[in-house]
Amino acid sequence: MAAGGLSFRNITALAPMVRVGTLPMRLLALDYGADVVYCEELIDIKMAQCRRVVNDELETVDFVAPDDRVMFRTCERERHRVVFQMGTADPDRALTVAQLVEKDVAAIDVNMGCPKEYSTKGGMGAALLSEPDKIEAILRKLVTGVSIPVTCKIRILPSLEESVALVQRIEKTGVAAVAVHGRFKDERPRHPVHCDYIEAVCRAVSVPIIANGGSLDLVKTHADIEEFRKATGASSVMLGRAAMWNASVFSSRGPLPVETVMEEYLRYAIRYDNHTFNTKYCLCQMLRDKVESPLGKQVQAAQTNAEISEAYGLQHFYQQTQDQLRAKRDALPGGGGT
Ligand code: FNR
Repeated sequence: MAAGGLSFRNITALAPMVRVGTLPMRLLALDYGADVVYCEELIDIKMAQCRRVVNDELETVDFVAPDDRVMFRTCERERHRVVFQMGTADPDRALTVAQLVEKDVAAIDVNMGCPKEYSTKGGMGAALLSEPDKIEAILRKLVTGVSIPVTCKIRILPSLEESVALVQRIEKTGVAAVAVHGRFKDERPRHPVHCDYIEAVCRAVSVPIIANGGSLDLVKTHADIEEFRKATGASSVMLGRAAMWNASVFSSRGPLPVETVMEEYLRYAIRYDNHTFNTKYCLCQMLRDKVESPLGKQVQAAQTNAEISEAYGLQHFYQQTQDQLRAKRDALPGGGGT
């Protein structure tokens, strides 16, 4: 039965974001002041095939696919803060995956808002919004089957009444929080967020509501986070794009230049041996309209983390980190050390 643990009241959270929400970004968001960090959506079928591997060299826990790809990498630093988001349409498979990761994460979240075809065609993501029975079955199974909190992330339904009724039904499953992205299923990220819908939901339930969707027009600075919370009456706020563009938005000490943020990001990417393409993708999101600048072109052309490091003048840090990791590897039993 879900009990205790992570609180979702009065927190700011890094939103789940495919490709963006890997370990370096999550650690960066925590450094800057996020209370809770969601991983990118991971699909239940793929996760169910993974094996759990303790990586002594990196000091991480890795969930590794049969083709040796690391699907999910986490570490002690975030254990009590990271929410594992999955894409699922099947209660049994959802539970299998939740039980696989539950000792290494702080909570489990189910994505019920993704409108992209790769999610909805399997009945996952926003497709679940029109199947409340399935929502209930998945959430009940998870809440009774794991010992950490369970949450879900939804989009709003076409009317206030339907949105409220859905969240009331979700609340009864025993979830610890509901993240509400204040857009309809067919709305794009550029459309204004419907704070009134989030507010109506907050008034109707007592489970903590995490307001989401404010990045483009409402939340540009740290102070705006509180404004967004007030405008929606929510317990908490979750940020996606604002954090992706500059994760220091979580810092109450004010924003840092994006150059500094990119450098800090890259240090984590190097330290945790992040996949090069993933590192490039995240840096390009941060570069935004500067992606065609000389730096942006260098990042895009890079084929290794070493080459990306050169673009940021971090060769020394890169080399030092590689040496440290090699020394650690050699010192491990069977690691080739003498
Ligand atoms: C997303 N979003 C998203 N949502 C989700 O539940 N699981 C996911 O894996 C993703 N992936 C994702 C990737 C990228 C690059 C973006 C920009 C967004 C949606 C995200 O969590 C959030 O709901 C929206 O971005 C709206 O919040 P903001 O950006 O206005 O704060």
